[in-house]
Amino acid sequence: MAKETYAFTTPIYYVNAKPHLGTAYTTIASDCVARYQRMNGREVAFVTGMDEHGQKVADTAAANNMSPQEWCDSMEPAFRDEWKNLKITYTDFVRTTEKRQERSVQKFWQDLYDKGYLYKGAYEGWYCVHEETYYAESDLEKNEDGVYVCPECGRPVQESTGEENWFFKLSEFQDKLLDYYEKHPDFIRPEIRYNEVVSFVKGGLKDLSISRSTFDWGVPLPFDEGHVAYVWADALLAYLTGIGYADPDREEEFNSCWPMQYHFVGKDIIRFHCVIWPAMLMAAGLPQPKCIFGHGFLLTKGEKMSKSKGNAVMPKDIINVFGLDAYRYYFMSDVQFGADGSISLERMVQVYNADLANTWGNLCSRVFNMTNKYFEGKVPDADGKGDNPMKEIVDGLYKKYDEAMEAVDFTGATKAALELAERVNHYVEESEPWNLAKSEDKTELANVLYNMLESIRIISLYMAPFMPVTSKLVYEALSQGDVEEVTDIKSATAWGQLKPGTEIKMTDALFPRLKEDEVDFSIE
Ligand code: MSP
Repeated sequence: MAKETYAFTTPIYYVNAKPHLGTAYTTIASDCVARYQRMNGREVAFVTGMDEHGQKVADTAAANNMSPQEWCDSMEPAFRDEWKNLKITYTDFVRTTEKRQERSVQKFWQDLYDKGYLYKGAYEGWYCVHEETYYAESDLEKNEDGVYVCPECGRPVQESTGEENWFFKLSEFQDKLLDYYEKHPDFIRPEIRYNEVVSFVKGGLKDLSISRSTFDWGVPLPFDEGHVAYVWADALLAYLTGIGYADPDREEEFNSCWPMQYHFVGKDIIRFHCVIWPAMLMAAGLPQPKCIFGHGFLLTKGEKMSKSKGNAVMPKDIINVFGLDAYRYYFMSDVQFGADGSISLERMVQVYNADLANTWGNLCSRVFNMTNKYFEGKVPDADGKGDNPMKEIVDGLYKKYDEAMEAVDFTGATKAALELAERVNHYVEESEPWNLAKSEDKTELANVLYNMLESIRIISLYMAPFMPVTSKLVYEALSQGDVEEVTDIKSATAWGQLKPGTEIKMTDALFPRLKEDEVDFSIE
């Protein structure tokens, strides 16, 4: 049997706008999982992509005087380049306009049609193009002009008076879904989203329109060519396309990847993922993913950050000031994954200086300098005697860190690694190597410096999923090779592997201190 792959996804992003901090957030989180699980010996499948069909993208293309396909093609570099800049190590990038996606969509819905889960009807109701969501009148709000608007984004909604659609019998799944949630309390996380979904489903489910017949920017349904798949009935299937569904050459891969470990999504798209998607999978006879994790929003001054609100900060704005690693580290450590997080420049500078400049970066430069000065830049030959307060922390660290990473508690994982760095910094103060250096006998000095260098090696491994650039530098400075090639972090982080005599190469300061008033961009 094929080895089980650790598989997960980001949402498949709409291409009406370029990636911003919000979309980059899920993608970075997913990348930290990918990097860690590879270091942990797992085969990884990490699927992302572009959601290109539907009315919203078609309208955006028209507004830019392009055909929908031209528009989508023009957006591909924006996504691919951004993920490259952020060092995202996805394994598949699915564009929903690809032929292989069309195969998935057609195979899936043909199957549900054959099984009797679909029927044709007339859609009477409302639609929000921006959210690509159907609404009943009772869901809507009215703006000050008395116009019905979308409860999610506040934009006017369109009324549909009898568009011919194909419907999926979602209402038949209410009890099955509730039963599944009850038996799998970890299926939807964090708990707040679980509760939200359960109460929504208890309120009753309506059948879902899965096709559109008034425009043609989508995948044609094989059993009724005048209809294209509703954009969500298309995009969700990209998760399967990315691991080889409907591809005879990738059957083994598909079987080793499905069911996936995680779908990482924002809390605004939880119903699609926790209600519609599981019902689709039940109808198709496919097992459920292990967990749908709905993270919170990044907020600026209490408001969801978005392009249309004009308060979207672009990743490059932050990278230019803080560097990539500090950017990744800040969002993963300071915003608890699952909760909303207010972001501010002040806080970013604070975390950068405290955790990275003063703690982790400072530790490396002090210890490398002392090694240079006292031992000609080589790992000293230590006899392992004397106090070593770090050893006990290191012995328990893998378990603590691994549990946090499995649960996608990035705050917990980064904290565990940082605490070790803090402890080593204290140890430098306590052991005063500059005084030990005055003595004839260098045994104690050799021991303390060895302990510091060995701790640095271990910290660089644990920081690597979050800060791939600096961990690579530190690991190379310690002549340990490429940190990205580590595939057994548990044994690699066991104490005492640094060999005496190993050359320590000096590095520039990893995180030069920042002064808030010198940082020149603002998040309003
Ligand atoms: N195309 C759909 C997803 C289909 S998945 C089968 C979609 N795309 S999106 O581009 O609009 O949004 C992608 C994700 O970005 C969502 O998970 C959303 O929650 C997230 N974010 C957008 N703005 C955000 C913040 N300000 N903060 C955090 N995440 C946010 O929805």
